[in-house]
Amino acid sequence: TYTQDDPFINAMTDKLKSQLKIMENSNMKVIVSVRNGDNDQREQDEIVAEMIDAGCDVLCVNLVDRTAPANIIKVARQNDIPVIFFNREPVHEDLAQWDKLYYVGCDAKESGDMQGEIAAEYIKKHPEVDRNGDGKIQYVLLEGEAGHQDAISRTDCSVNTLIENGVQLEKLSYQFADWNRGQAENRMTQLISQYGDEVELVISNNDEMALGAAEAYRNSRISEDKWPAIFGIDGLDDALQAIKEGTMQGTVYNDKEDQAGEMARLAVD
Ligand code: GAL
Ligand code: CA
Repeated sequence: TYTQDDPFINAMTDKLKSQLKIMENSNMKVIVSVRNGDNDQREQDEIVAEMIDAGCDVLCVNLVDRTAPANIIKVARQNDIPVIFFNREPVHEDLAQWDKLYYVGCDAKESGDMQGEIAAEYIKKHPEVDRNGDGKIQYVLLEGEAGHQDAISRTDCSVNTLIENGVQLEKLSYQFADWNRGQAENRMTQLISQYGDEVELVISNNDEMALGAAEAYRNSRISEDKWPAIFGIDGLDDALQAIKEGTMQGTVYNDKEDQAGEMARLAVD
């Protein structure tokens, strides 16, 4: 994995382990070892080489840098170890280098479209989201990571779907927060000091950052009736809880069960 600090990736990794366990039989034991690259592609390259030396049969790689799989592909190929990349998608040219390279991930476009749909529906049902009554929704967008396929598509599709559904938007700010709750809280705290209670909608590329934004409001002087509507993506437990409590307004399920299931099936094949 690219880091040990990403709750979605950790949840998916746990699912992968349990899926693989289910697929064991009298002829085949499955031994899984998990290592993280600590946000450093070179470190991840070294770990992959170590795992190959240790005798692995299949590699599942959640790249640190999705544009830099070359070293991993090279050693895997030399040792004839198939690689299932997941969640951080190598570009087509890299995946086409060898026929034992695979990719499993979500359809980012679809999660963006769905986020736009639920946000538009919510805004129509709750006209009070437009707090200053100017007919436009002042919004900020929290982006996962520059160059990440999910961040790019989710941002585009979510905003376009809102517009297609007749919501007039006014962009206040786009901020990168590395999918991370703490970073998003910091960014949002800065935005609150800049815009006060003007933000009416927060669109976040994932739940962790949405929860960070909610936390920033909780720690601010802005009274609860002036908090924006906040939407995430992933459908993690903490976000579902926040939606029940009313500090987030919606999320889109990123199907970690099915993605882990496909990886397990592919690995065993
Ligand atoms: C996304 C997911 C984020 C984060 C990211 C890491 O698909 O929604 O929460 O885990 O992958 O690459
Ligand atoms: Ca407004």
